Amino acid sequence: MRYADDPRQIGQDLNHGVHRAMTKKTGRLEGKVAIVTGSSRGIGKAIAEAFAREGASVVIASRKPEGVHAAAEEIQSAGFEAAGIPCHVGKIDDCKALVASTLDRYGKIDILVNNAATNPYFGPMQGLSIEAFRKTFEVNVEGPFTLTREVVAHLQERRAGGSIINTSSVLGLMASPLQGVYGMTKAALISMTKTLAKELGQTGIRVNALAPGIVETRFASALVDNDEIRESILEKAAIKRVGVPEDIAGGAVYLASDEASYLTGHVLVIDGGWTLGG
Ligand SMILES: NC(=O)c1ccc[n+]([C@@H]2O[C@H](COP(=O)([O-])OP(=O)(O)OC[C@H]3O[C@@H](n4cnc5c(N)ncnc54)[C@H](OP(=O)(O)O)[C@@H]3O)[C@@H](O)[C@H]2O)c1
Repeated sequence: MRYADDPRQIGQDLNHGVHRAMTKKTGRLEGKVAIVTGSSRGIGKAIAEAFAREGASVVIASRKPEGVHAAAEEIQSAGFEAAGIPCHVGKIDDCKALVASTLDRYGKIDILVNNAATNPYFGPMQGLSIEAFRKTFEVNVEGPFTLTREVVAHLQERRAGGSIINTSSVLGLMASPLQGVYGMTKAALISMTKTLAKELGQTGIRVNALAPGIVETRFASALVDNDEIRESILEKAAIKRVGVPEDIAGGAVYLASDEASYLTGHVLVIDGGWTLGG
């Protein structure tokens, strides 16, 4: 008997996921509906494109309507299913409207990627204004918290499981001088991920986090466009290049798919070995 044929060894609930992963010819996310925040460019866009290629219907959600609709149209014109719904994740009403509009359009939600974030202050903690502190927490923590609760309420009602993915950062795992409050919010997301994973495990809803290293996007342009900083990043990394959004998207597809059906509360570090030390 092959290992995957023996439900006693892989667990009855997981049997379904493992078999699907082994026998499915195409589309690891076929039939799924996914919301990806911060997806008009950068890492979120790469995740949305990868999900669409795997068969999911994806909702592109960022603040600026033109960016949201352009990204959705790009995916549609490649022959995949996408919709653009503008949303500022720092606004609770926007978060609730995003979930409601997605349900109106697709009738269900299976996957939520809390990817949008802000980092308005660069400098020592002592110089941080309380306004910048609050804004960073509003967008990076309160938004994902609100969206997660809205989506989880729907998932629990449907009793169909689901996957929540929070884009944290390697800076949520270590000291982040000059980006202190950003690091605090990313550490909070990891804490939220682990607690929700524990609370929701029995319902089949999995909650995991991505922790990217330095990835070439507009968000990181101040770091990667500076030759000196770029060199120091590469010096610390095991893989001698800066990450690209697609490096992170592969991890997101895995976390969203049935291939990860026994994985919850995990922080998937994708950083080219940057945090290995040594
Ligand atoms: N790049 C890196 O090196 C790196 C490393 C570790 C972690 N990360 C994390 O990866 C995630 C994505 O970053 P990125 O590098 O891909 O950034 P990016 O290329 O600058 O893209 C950011 C996206 O988020 C949207 N956005 C910004 N504020 C928003 C808000 N309040 N509500 C909704 N959408 C918002 C932007 O569109 P609008 O401007 O239209 O809203 C855009 O679509 C973030 O969580 C970031 O912390 C990035």
